[in-house]
Amino acid sequence: MFPIRTSIVVFSAFIFISACIKLEPSAPDSNNVLDGPLAELNHEQMIQHMHGDAAFNDAIFTSENGLGPVFVANTCASCHAGDGKGHQFTSLTRFGQSDSTGNLFIGKGGPQLQNRAIPGFLPEQLPFGVPFTKLVAPAVTGLGFIDAVTDADIIAMADPTDADGDGISGVLSVAILPSYVIPRNMAIPQNGYFICRFGKKAGAYDLVLQTAKAYNQDMGIISGYEPVDPHSNLAGDPEITAQTIQDNVFYQKTLKAPLARNQNNSDVISGKQIFINIGCVTCHKKELKTGHSTISSLSEKLFFPYTDLLLHDMGSDLDDGYTEGSAKSSEWRTPALWGLGLSKNSQGGNYFLMHDGRATTIEQAVLLHGGEGSKSRSQYNALTETERKKLLIFLENL
Ligand code: HEC
Ligand code: HEC
Repeated sequence: MFPIRTSIVVFSAFIFISACIKLEPSAPDSNNVLDGPLAELNHEQMIQHMHGDAAFNDAIFTSENGLGPVFVANTCASCHAGDGKGHQFTSLTRFGQSDSTGNLFIGKGGPQLQNRAIPGFLPEQLPFGVPFTKLVAPAVTGLGFIDAVTDADIIAMADPTDADGDGISGVLSVAILPSYVIPRNMAIPQNGYFICRFGKKAGAYDLVLQTAKAYNQDMGIISGYEPVDPHSNLAGDPEITAQTIQDNVFYQKTLKAPLARNQNNSDVISGKQIFINIGCVTCHKKELKTGHSTISSLSEKLFFPYTDLLLHDMGSDLDDGYTEGSAKSSEWRTPALWGLGLSKNSQGGNYFLMHDGRATTIEQAVLLHGGEGSKSRSQYNALTETERKKLLIFLENL
């Protein structure tokens, strides 16, 4: 009896161990994961990155520590999960502006709808008949590189009057800065307005502004930078410190750039050539460079985001009738395509592409390109089935 039992135990232990070996996930290849810090951060920078990581991903606000009273979500990571793109369930609604006269609903609930509230308060409702847009959160990786592009390089890509006659203009998004925003070195203002680059309509100048506004408008958290509560419209004592905002910004700046994968695969190589040939690259510029930065891995570097950071008129299908800053309602900033193939990881296994996530495949996203994008859409339509597949393989490996 005894030896048999032992062998059963041994045998079942063997099954158990081998099952464990099979089930244990292999360590994810860091190229296949969107988030993670830049290489070459020194000890001090790594510590600030970790403080910022906690502010971005772990700090969950409740009514006890300042949430609301009206809000959209209670942490940055609820919309930017894994530092990746958000889902339509967590989209933001902005409203109240349809032309260049400015937002008519500032102080009356706008520009952003806070559709949730802590107990005892009523969430906001979209005013009847008001122009609005719904925005799905973009990924936040590689933003330090985008932030370090010089104004001169952005201006060099712009072609507001379509002087080269290719049917594609590319316009700067400009704004007056609030007093807490410090212009970058070598900023080149345009008649007193500063060139903005973050957000779907490039309405935000830098990551400090974007972050202070996100705390305020998305979570109802006021700071020394943005002291006015979106519900009461009154200024109050800060609910977070300036240091928390600076750490959060440092975290975003020092997230690594998404790395393209399988670059030696022959389909990826031909797909990339097709992307260039049919003019996608006119807006989704392959290569940009950074200016000087105090963070060595961001200083004077070439990087591959596939954007020109400019606004383009994308036609009537993508025109929500809502506008922001100097952007028109049909204008959107070319989104970076790096990390595109990894978007599904933070979007529940499906793609939700374009500003409002309405495209659930990459092909649908391409077919929605109207306006300045319609020429390359026609060229896409003229491709053979095999060429389209190769283009898709290239895009999925970004
Ligand atoms: C309710 C969902 C939501 C929450 C919460 C949220 N975001 Fe966002 N985030 C968005 C959306 C939507 C956009 C696009 C907004 C726009 O175009 O102006 C965005 C844009 C950004 C951008 C610009 C990225 C780019 O590529 O231009 C940054 C940076 C950012 N968010 C950081 C933050 C930080 C930091 C927090 C927390 C303090 C935060 N977000 C909280 C939804 C959210
Ligand atoms: C005229 C400039 C322009 C051209 C040319 C262009 N795009 Fe775009 N692309 C944009 C803009 C702007 C958006 C964002 C529109 C929106 O959010 O509603 C976009 C969005 C996308 C998206 C969705 C990205 C995301 O994160 O949601 C993909 C994919 C894409 N383009 C691929 C392509 C491909 C492939 C081509 C060539 C066939 C192409 N684009 C040509 C400007 C352009």
